[in-house]
Amino acid sequence: MRKQIAAANWKMNLTHPEMVQLMDQLLDNAPSLNAEQEVVLAVPFLYLEAVRQRLQGMSGYRVAAQNCHHKTSGAFTGEVSAPMLASMGIPDCVIGHSERREYQAESDALLAQKVDRCLEAGIRPIFCCGEALSVRETGTQNAFVAEQIRAGLFHLSPEALSGIVIAYEPIWAIGTGKTASSAQAQEMHEAIRGVLAEQYGAHVAGQIPILYGGSVKGSNAAELFGGADVDGGLVGGASLNATEFRQIIAALK
Ligand code: PGA
Repeated sequence: MRKQIAAANWKMNLTHPEMVQLMDQLLDNAPSLNAEQEVVLAVPFLYLEAVRQRLQGMSGYRVAAQNCHHKTSGAFTGEVSAPMLASMGIPDCVIGHSERREYQAESDALLAQKVDRCLEAGIRPIFCCGEALSVRETGTQNAFVAEQIRAGLFHLSPEALSGIVIAYEPIWAIGTGKTASSAQAQEMHEAIRGVLAEQYGAHVAGQIPILYGGSVKGSNAAELFGGADVDGGLVGGASLNATEFRQIIAALK
């Protein structure tokens, strides 16, 4: 069975005391995970080391960066590279979140490079894709997302692809309180797995966890995660509340 993952995306939230409090609440009698389940906390660079230390020795709990640079080193003031993350023991990195695609103008070609830098450094990319409302309104969302997957990932070998996680996040559902229905999520996840299977075969496609993101909450997680191809969630707002996020962890298959 492929991994079932509850991933928190804190984005640019929480001061240091707030972060410490959230970690205390989350880890006090922390939910135990079975061998197929993971909890991933994607946190601001500044808190990576503190969160990594707190999670040490906790089976299935991992820390992630929210981004990395597409080069390994150099004169890029303010940036952080994949080899730096790896050297600090950071196992995962979110790549291509829609907020970075939009506000930092990150292109598919750039994201393909970031995926490569992560894999070279031994970091597992959590590769984000998803369509805007205008795309969904024209009914072309499957083709749109398939193109994001092709452009960002299809240069990878089957072995390399097996090491990634995909997060499908419809932009119209992020931070809006509007969730895709469980049927809409399952339909897209099945389509994504189909795109992967066409290129890499059903066996490889079947190994890739595909997470749903967009207004996942404690109250809707179990229904969303119920889809056969929905392997957990990437959670923004609700991951800042320990009670909510623990409900989401409990909803994993
Ligand atoms: P949200 O964000 O859960 O607040 O909608 C999800 C995300 O952007 O990863």
